[in-house]
Amino acid sequence: MKDVMDAIFHRRAIRRFKNRQIPEEALAKILQAGLYAPSAGGRQGPVFVVCQDPEVNEKLGKLKRAHSHPRMATGENYVSRQQPSIADDPKLTDAFYGAPTVITLFGPKNFLFAAEDCACAAGNMMLAADGLGIGSCYIGQGWTAFSSPYGQEILRRWGIRTDYYAVMQLLLGYPREGDPHPVPKPRREGRILRV
Ligand SMILES: Cc1cc2nc3c(=O)[nH]c(=O)nc-3n(C[C@H](O)[C@H](O)[C@H](O)COP(=O)(O)O)c2cc1C
Repeated sequence: MKDVMDAIFHRRAIRRFKNRQIPEEALAKILQAGLYAPSAGGRQGPVFVVCQDPEVNEKLGKLKRAHSHPRMATGENYVSRQQPSIADDPKLTDAFYGAPTVITLFGPKNFLFAAEDCACAAGNMMLAADGLGIGSCYIGQGWTAFSSPYGQEILRRWGIRTDYYAVMQLLLGYPREGDPHPVPKPRREGRILRV
């Protein structure tokens, strides 16, 4: 495992994956990192649903792409050139980018901090993944993957309580062979105020 600061600086959003699945032990560690994240009131609201069924992930990813209307990239305004997102490349039809592991984080619908709790858990998990040499990508607006009859059927199949909603997805997989590790954009200035 890397030092925490090394992982913070090294982690980047990965959207081009190898087909190879991640090992069980690595997945278990990443999930532990999520379980030990802070949560509002210590309520441990987030529920982590791990899907490694390529057919289900592809179908949900495609439905999510079809329900997404991102502002498409322009010359100087883009998400990533090295690991293009659906906003960068209109040819990408799967909002999960073929990731071999997709974890959907669900939170209680009537809880004010459901989204923050899931985001904290995802932050821990992305750093843990980086420390283990595994690429990750945070996918927002998780519920859009399920806003179709197929998505609703999957929620029933997974036994998701109707008072929970999908906050986000976390994609996991090994970065594609030969891809250089993405270089972060320069940090925008003026975002720290010492008062
Ligand atoms: C709240 C949130 C929502 C995001 N949603 C998406 C998404 O829907 N699709 C995607 O490809 N990346 C998504 N990302 C990943 C960002 O695009 C990525 O973190 C950002 O471009 C910075 O790149 P870096 O993570 O490599 O530093 C999301 C990130 C956050 C924090």
